[in-house]
Amino acid sequence: MLFGITPLALMTLKIRRARPDELALLTQLAATEQANPQRHIAYLSETAPEIAAELQDLDRPWATVSAVACQDEAVVGWLVGDFDLEVGRTWWLGPFVAVDDEGVWSKVVTALHGHALDMLPEGVVEQEFAVDEHFEWLVRWGQARGFVPGTISVSMSSALDAGARVLSDAPPVEATLRPLTQGDRATVAPLHDRLFPGTYMTGAQLAAASKDHDVRLVAADPQTGVVAGYIAAQRQPDGGGYIDFLGVAEGFRRQGHARRLIQAAARVLHDTLDCRSVHLTVEASNAAARALYGSLGFKEARALRGLSKRPAPAPTGPKGAP
Ligand SMILES: CC(C)(COP(=O)(O)OP(=O)(O)OC[C@H]1O[C@@H](n2cnc3c(N)ncnc32)[C@H](O)[C@@H]1OP(=O)(O)O)[C@@H](O)C(=O)NCCC(=O)NCCS
Repeated sequence: MLFGITPLALMTLKIRRARPDELALLTQLAATEQANPQRHIAYLSETAPEIAAELQDLDRPWATVSAVACQDEAVVGWLVGDFDLEVGRTWWLGPFVAVDDEGVWSKVVTALHGHALDMLPEGVVEQEFAVDEHFEWLVRWGQARGFVPGTISVSMSSALDAGARVLSDAPPVEATLRPLTQGDRATVAPLHDRLFPGTYMTGAQLAAASKDHDVRLVAADPQTGVVAGYIAAQRQPDGGGYIDFLGVAEGFRRQGHARRLIQAAARVLHDTLDCRSVHLTVEASNAAARALYGSLGFKEARALRGLSKRPAPAPTGPKGAP
């Protein structure tokens, strides 16, 4: 096996920082692991070129927090940390460890994780993994180290081609459906923070996004002009579209705002950003959203599970206690 390791070889394992010139080799390892549902992670695509493009699109160089495990000269494991100082969290991309024995795999992951943790800047105190629901090794590894398994999410996708339901009769982006402007920030940011507390993008970050590949639309109430809902999507480095967030304020639901926002975002992704497909992830328990996407032709693919670790809250002793 290209990246294989035997239990005996654990003694000669070395963990070190990844080098930027290793990206091709490392993404090959990642793609091999991604093909296996029992070792698949949620944040990255499947093929080596797609994964390389995604890593090069991170907010900072991918090797900033990146550890590799080597046995002799061969790379057998890799873990990258994608962190956000404002949110104070790192999202682990990986681990990719080509080992078929859980005990050995677990030891390599522990070594990689410890090394990568040391590279994180101060202030990054929360950690998250998101993996295929079949990646039980990581769940067991994480639970033994204070990570808490989250709820199951489902990844969904639709092609963006002539036959796509989500593109048929899509409303034009005008009138009550329009791009988010600076003036909408004061409404959209708190709505987002209320609907998605503690997620990977704050309301302020979402409302301020202005990269060419970002799509930000709002739906306004036709009578009052008040913002009823918003959608945040993007063209990803692999060329696919991704819907990050969709929210409609409680008093405006079941009026078709979300349906129209999705259709309009799909139209922008297809027509302006040249996307041939659109993807998203939704909590398995969110029946409303799953029904909504299903009615627009989205198909469910993988079930995913998050694992998170937050610092323990400071102990609150009686007043005056040391
Ligand atoms: C999910 C959400 C965006 C739907 O917004 P909405 O504007 O009320 O949705 P729409 O009016 O466009 O509904 C379109 C279709 O979706 C489905 N749907 C929407 N809400 C539903 C609900 N509560 N129960 C069942 N189906 C529902 C229906 O098929 C509906 O068509 P219908 O009204 O003709 O039956 C909204 O409930 C919301 O913001 N929820 C909290 C945030 C969230 O979960 N976002 C999605 C995360 S990916």
